Amino acid sequence: MCGIVAAAAQRDVAPLLIVGLKALEYRGYDSSGVAVLDQGRIRRVRAKGKVREMEARYLAEPFPGGTGIAHTRWATHGLPTELNAHPHVAGKVAIVHNGIIENHVGLRTRLQAAGREFSSETDTEVIAVLIDEHLNQGMSLRAAVLAAVRELEGAYAIAVISRDEPGRVVGARRGAPLLVGLGIGENFLGSDAQALIQVTNRMIYLDEDDVVEITRDSVQVFGLDGEPVERTEHESELSSDAVERGEYRHYMQKEIFEQPRAVADTLESRLGPHGVLPNIFGIDSDVLLKRTRGLHIIACGTSYHAGLVAKYWIEEYARLPVSVEVASEYRYREPVVAADTLFVAISQSGETADTLAALRESRRRGYLGTLAICNVAESSLVREADLKLMTRAGPEIGVASTKAFTTQLAGLALLALELAQRNGLDPQRYAALCAELQHLPRAIENALQLEPAIIELAGEFIHRQHALFLGRGAHYPVALEGSLKLKEISYIHAEAYPAGELKHGPLALVDEEMPVVAVAPNGPLLDKLKSNLQEVRARGGRLIVFADGAAGMDDMAAHGTTLRVESGGDFISPAVFTVPLQLLAYHVAVLRGTDVDQPRNLAKSVTVE
Ligand code: M6R
Repeated sequence: MCGIVAAAAQRDVAPLLIVGLKALEYRGYDSSGVAVLDQGRIRRVRAKGKVREMEARYLAEPFPGGTGIAHTRWATHGLPTELNAHPHVAGKVAIVHNGIIENHVGLRTRLQAAGREFSSETDTEVIAVLIDEHLNQGMSLRAAVLAAVRELEGAYAIAVISRDEPGRVVGARRGAPLLVGLGIGENFLGSDAQALIQVTNRMIYLDEDDVVEITRDSVQVFGLDGEPVERTEHESELSSDAVERGEYRHYMQKEIFEQPRAVADTLESRLGPHGVLPNIFGIDSDVLLKRTRGLHIIACGTSYHAGLVAKYWIEEYARLPVSVEVASEYRYREPVVAADTLFVAISQSGETADTLAALRESRRRGYLGTLAICNVAESSLVREADLKLMTRAGPEIGVASTKAFTTQLAGLALLALELAQRNGLDPQRYAALCAELQHLPRAIENALQLEPAIIELAGEFIHRQHALFLGRGAHYPVALEGSLKLKEISYIHAEAYPAGELKHGPLALVDEEMPVVAVAPNGPLLDKLKSNLQEVRARGGRLIVFADGAAGMDDMAAHGTTLRVESGGDFISPAVFTVPLQLLAYHVAVLRGTDVDQPRNLAKSVTVE
């Protein structure tokens, strides 16, 4: 999704801005650009495609200047062309923008009627023209930005420079993140801490409707009414090393292999020898969790799949009713909220527009309280929820979520145990589940050893167009997650079904061309699953079975491949079985030569609806 970097400094900023944009590449984008003020002129370079293509143009004809803005664009309004790439220039103004302006058509019509011309199809150019109009009436840049944003409907984070005000960048945010980086004798704006961590770790996270003005030696924040407001400085814990790829070929591979550490970090000082430690969801959690009689879990994509696993856990161990829903649906309907229901939002980024909107919507729906399970401490989701549990996955750069998912499962397992204990789970069973959860990092470590076998298996998928994934119980969401991974990075069409559903339709698709991936841990449903797999086998389908102990699975191997996964127990098994599916998707994508870390059309953090 779009990214912003801006700077007011004494040195030439274009190279710095390009470094910042490269750190944002993981978010997904299709064009990029930089604009700086150079002795009363706006100098700009833009290009479709990767930042390095824009950088090559800049290096062919570099320009100096200490005040600048830069952007990676993920097309929403208008094709991903150079003309639509940011920064947009209108009169004296250059602007970069993340988000969507919902009333841009009306504003454009009005401005055109007043004689203004537009050179792009974007909603962003409308903001530039609007600000320029206000400047023409004699306003300062800050006043013009304030006047313009008051007219905007929708979501925005913007950074603006004006030919007439060298040394100054004005930013504003609503519904999209923007933060300030505090340097020494220079200051920055960015849509994400990762864009700025190369230059500073001192950050100010802006609130909704903040307007900020930075110069080399000052930072001032204002409310929408133009009055100054105070915002706190934070020291970011991000390190630039954390975003290095190291010895790995792709970030996704690195992140898959970071899972034992990430899960161990997520459990550390939260799960003790006798169980879940007190107040791990925040100091008010005791009161709210004591009263919790049900949960509504809301999320998107991979985070939604984590929520689905949690439903199995919480209903089985804590005996509380749980509903799980994708945020984009939830936000537009009127769910029935029973008394004492806890709202739980799960998100890696904490900036997913639908999940954030759902959290805000939940406020008027009578929940007991809200809990965020999230990977980014400074995110809007974490700041707005009552209770929080941080997954300590570290920065996840690959668009396909991997360590975020398993750390979310670790966090949700803690939640399930906490609620189970409060709701009368037998203490011996509770202790056994806690011991299993302690073992999760080791079990994931073991699952990673399957990589060589999976590399071999991946070859079978190179020329496939479709694949089916099957699972039962809490492993059905694992199958969903495996199919999502495969489709998003290898572009193979993949679907997941609860295995019992096979004969209700999808079986019609099965023939020799259809690989069927089954998640088959030991457990009460294994025999049922085996019968389902017989149905595939009878139609000549190619079976790829991930089984633990593989009791009775060898006969399946005759019709495909069985790989043994040591699950570590029923409870943690969904997290463990996810790992080989991640590796499978990864190696299939590598063999197919796709852009693994930045798959086409996708963005890391979906900050627009
Ligand atoms: O940051 P979030 O967890 O809220 O993101 C939700 C989805 O956009 C995300 O999980 C997406 O589905 C990933 N690309 C999946 O790999």
